[in-house]
Amino acid sequence: MWRDDLRERLAAIERQGLYRRRRVMDSPQGVEVVCDGRRRVNFCSNDYLGLANHPEVVAALRRGAERYGAGAGAAHLVCGHSRAHHALEEELAEFTGRERALLFSTGYMANLGVISALAGRGDTVFEDRLNHASLLDGALLSGARLKRYAHADLAALGTALADSPSKTRLIVSDGVFSMDGDLAPLGALAQAAREHGGWLVIDDAHGLGVLGEKGRGSLTRFGLGQDDVPVLVGTLGKAFGTFGAFVAGRSELIEFLIQRARSYIYTTALPPAVAEATRAALRLAWEENWRRERLSRLVHRFRAGAAQLGLCLMTSESPIQPVVLGANEAALDASRALWNAGFLASAIRPPTVPAGTARLRITFTAGHTEAQVDGLLETLGEWLATLGGTSFRAIGGAPPGPDEP
Ligand SMILES: Cc1ncc(COP(=O)(O)O)c(C=O)c1O
Repeated sequence: MWRDDLRERLAAIERQGLYRRRRVMDSPQGVEVVCDGRRRVNFCSNDYLGLANHPEVVAALRRGAERYGAGAGAAHLVCGHSRAHHALEEELAEFTGRERALLFSTGYMANLGVISALAGRGDTVFEDRLNHASLLDGALLSGARLKRYAHADLAALGTALADSPSKTRLIVSDGVFSMDGDLAPLGALAQAAREHGGWLVIDDAHGLGVLGEKGRGSLTRFGLGQDDVPVLVGTLGKAFGTFGAFVAGRSELIEFLIQRARSYIYTTALPPAVAEATRAALRLAWEENWRRERLSRLVHRFRAGAAQLGLCLMTSESPIQPVVLGANEAALDASRALWNAGFLASAIRPPTVPAGTARLRITFTAGHTEAQVDGLLETLGEWLATLGGTSFRAIGGAPPGPDEP
């Protein structure tokens, strides 16, 4: 019976400490949320700049709904491409310093669409082992050969590129790694792409809005433009606080994606009102440097406090500050202890992260206070103290990658 089969599979997931349960939110996203009926200080959202519930963004959404209604009604290539989408694309192109930008309905779909449009049978896609699942899935969908190199290992990438007989080679990486928070070696990746005739695709989902001058992202840290990194993917549901994603680059790239990216062509355009809300969020992210400055101060405060506790953190200067605890149960236990003390920080377990590297993925937003950061540290310290002899203090640094799929 198929139901018995599924029950058995679910029980196996539970036994491994990998069962996922959803919490129900009764409040807008923010520093303080109402979650499962309880008020908690949120340390696990991607709303890094605190824009998801900003009054100007919400007002733009409302105005957008009044002008365009609730839904786009069709795909972009049929009759769903509104003035709001078009204006947002132009503003995103200006923000990223690229010729054009193309909206996708989610980051997951952008990555599937881009990789499967640019690569196919006979081509090779080279990916960092810690890349986001959507980048790996895009390569699998494309039918190209997928070669995964050890995290940030440029020598391994160089060897794989030199050995590859493929004419079309895509080198694909997160800009800021989503579960570790560290920056990819972007300058060296661009150099490798130049040397080996590869096309570099960078998904800067966690860098845009947060890093670089005016929040223009990870690439600006390395002075890389659209000819060094031809394909830039950005998401709108993280620092920009809304929903959706985009690809930015030269005009030929965007035109080609319009013709060939199936996850662009065969899906309803995101609601135009969301595009209007994103235009407001983009303006705030662009103009209000204080949000990034504040984030950076909070991150430093947390890292200094964690060092005093003896916790070993990743080499991350982004708002993603993982505390790697190893066993799934340890991460669940720490998350429970934080919850009981008034904090929301969910446990991140495999397959989202490699086996043996379960963690709390602590994230900060511009809206957190120093007192909240100190409270989080105090609770982490108390939790560590309850462990007696066992300690997680030695765990840190880049975890091993998962096995080849
Ligand atoms: C690096 C990276 N790329 C893409 C995505 C997917 O974006 P979206 O949530 O818009 O589908 C995420 C997170 O969800 C991510 O962390």
